[in-house]
Amino acid sequence: MNKTKKIKNYLAIILMSAVLESDVSAQESNEAVENQVRALLAQMTLEEKVGQMTQIDFSVISVADGQDAENPIDPAKLEEALMQYHVGSILNAPSTPNNKAQPIGKWRRLTQQIRDAAARTRLKIPVIYGIDAIHGATYTQNAVLFPQAISMAATFNPELSFREGEITAREVKASGLDWNFAPVMDIGRQPLWPRLWETYGEDVHLASAMGSAYIRGHQGDDIAAADKAPTCLKHYVGYSYPLNGKDRTPAWIGERALREWFLPPFEAGVLAGAPTVMVNSAEVDGVPGHANRHYLNDILRGEMGFDGFTVSDWEDIIRLYSRDKLADSPREAIKIAVMAGVDMSMVPFDYSFYYLLLDLAQSGEVPLARIDEAVARILRVKYRSGLFERREPALPEAGYFATAEAAAVNRQAAREAIVLAKNDHRLLPLSKRASVLVTGPAANLLSVMNGGWTITWQGNKEEFYPQDKPTLLDAIRQKTEGNVTYVGGKQFSDEINIEQAVSEARRHDIVVLALGEKTYTETEGNIDSLQLDPVQLQLARAIFHTGKPVVLVTFGGRPRIITEIANQAQAVVLGFLPGMEGGAAMADILFGDVNPSGKLPISYPRDSNDITPYDHKPIEAYESNQYRPLYPFGHGLSYTTFETNGLRLAQPAIKTGENLQLSVNVKNTGNLAGKETVMVYLHDVAASVTRPVKQLKAFKKVELQPGEQRTLEFELTPRDLSFIGLEMKRVLEPGEFIVTVGSETASFHVLN
Ligand code: BGC
Repeated sequence: MNKTKKIKNYLAIILMSAVLESDVSAQESNEAVENQVRALLAQMTLEEKVGQMTQIDFSVISVADGQDAENPIDPAKLEEALMQYHVGSILNAPSTPNNKAQPIGKWRRLTQQIRDAAARTRLKIPVIYGIDAIHGATYTQNAVLFPQAISMAATFNPELSFREGEITAREVKASGLDWNFAPVMDIGRQPLWPRLWETYGEDVHLASAMGSAYIRGHQGDDIAAADKAPTCLKHYVGYSYPLNGKDRTPAWIGERALREWFLPPFEAGVLAGAPTVMVNSAEVDGVPGHANRHYLNDILRGEMGFDGFTVSDWEDIIRLYSRDKLADSPREAIKIAVMAGVDMSMVPFDYSFYYLLLDLAQSGEVPLARIDEAVARILRVKYRSGLFERREPALPEAGYFATAEAAAVNRQAAREAIVLAKNDHRLLPLSKRASVLVTGPAANLLSVMNGGWTITWQGNKEEFYPQDKPTLLDAIRQKTEGNVTYVGGKQFSDEINIEQAVSEARRHDIVVLALGEKTYTETEGNIDSLQLDPVQLQLARAIFHTGKPVVLVTFGGRPRIITEIANQAQAVVLGFLPGMEGGAAMADILFGDVNPSGKLPISYPRDSNDITPYDHKPIEAYESNQYRPLYPFGHGLSYTTFETNGLRLAQPAIKTGENLQLSVNVKNTGNLAGKETVMVYLHDVAASVTRPVKQLKAFKKVELQPGEQRTLEFELTPRDLSFIGLEMKRVLEPGEFIVTVGSETASFHVLN
């Protein structure tokens, strides 16, 4: 044997034994957890078990009024929750008067009181405290608040999503909290839906990549580590696709579409190790999420191998009775949900779930085995998350909260999230000496850039936002030497004096027109049309009348229709919800301190009913049907130019089951350094069910200096080539496939 071979063999042995060792230690720790769970379960009374399955809102343990008091916990109520009802989980934040974000020190004290009370219970089972930290620790004052998911997706940079996960977990843990109701793995294919922005957009591959990176960052290799925390995939499944676009209304998703588009991101989340799943609040095909045993049991556990616990969404078990009329009493609703596979009930305001489930279990209508199963799943996550090991906040505050390093990652994320959609005659970047009129309802607010779940549930209490963070107007003023004038109000809905805006426009070189949506989430964000409100259109029309060059900047969670305005503006910059650094990042881009690199994670509709995703079927672009959005999925310009060339497939044909390697060159053909995302699309030429015209299968984002060229390698797997066949199973049919990267295509065959 020659020397290199020997070394290779040796390395292989070392690697194998390292893999085996880690397998063995994972197995051992799993066994240890299982033993602990079994032992604890054996000691629990039925009451304690049912309590574990009960999750209550913070208000249930707080003083009646004045949740904003220094100490809002009512000790008697806390004692009652833990001693009498044995609750397993608490969620949400104190919320009077509407400012839910608490100082970190206060959070640490509140959660300590809860930990101390749990330590006084008979079995000392820790409470798992859950919070919606969907773009950072949203309910801790001064937390690092990232771009929302739709904007994170626009970065096409999973590394940034990983860092967001890391930083969020750290800040959640430093706040004394345990568990994060994120990421949203629903796929965003219905732009009217008021939670579109909580998703990673319309594409399965992108959403899976961004969501799993987030989970990996949040949980690390060991969720029990002090700076890691369990995530929660939500809202399983089909919640995001209401037919009428209104939140919590029916989706009609056939099994093939479910398996092709809606399940894969959740599958990716389970694979990435998320130990909890929140259930769809609405219904699919006439079956409410909380009653869907097929989804919760057969698919989630049977097919995906999920072994954590499921939690209901807000009040949703009782709604099987009060709203859906699926059950004839609250008691029956609980029976249906628990038997369908819901392990924990976000009740959240009373102990009705506890009483009724106890009664159902005592009468045998819910078998004890089912209760044990649910409780074991909850305890398993509590053990794995290290909750039994700690009686204090896992992390100190100093060094782990709102660090300069985290703020820098956030700023970078915001910069990469912003999409330059149009830049005629290279109007952008602007000169720092230009005199600029800034106007429009979105120009001088932090809330419009942050969206819901920011400081408050709706995110709309501008007065509670951190004063030191710049709005777009502040950031422009900070950056330029030129004369900057603002015409606009203090609130989103304040009337703007159009006459004044017009006369100021005439006196300035450029107009930055900031339009969009005020913040919202859930049913409060329902709308009847994607059209921008008429007042904004009126302002835009009047400004265009002056003939001054206009940069249209948009903020908001949905792609509101801007076609008429975008056609007349020289430049269009789509901000979506870039978070707390959004103003600064937008100014960085407008004035050329940063070269934009965001790409659209959804197709931007041309008109209200122009809702065709990029991965549509051939029939949707046949004869007079067209895919003709204002801007397509993946669109996004730069101040430099890129070219992809030399697409090369390793083989012209592969056998079923083999991978295919491919490579492509990407070159910066302009004069500025910049980042480009190279996207690999696949099309199956003929198949037994209709296939999308193209589907994203891989992407890479690279930074290139002027003139620099790099060769990127990709690999397509059998899974990438497969689809959900006639029998509703994943199949790979031999035949021709076409790969597209940029303007180049290449084809290959899969042989039998
Ligand atoms: C939302 C969930 C959220 C839960 C807890 C519900 O209304 O649908 O996304 O996690 O509230 O706040």
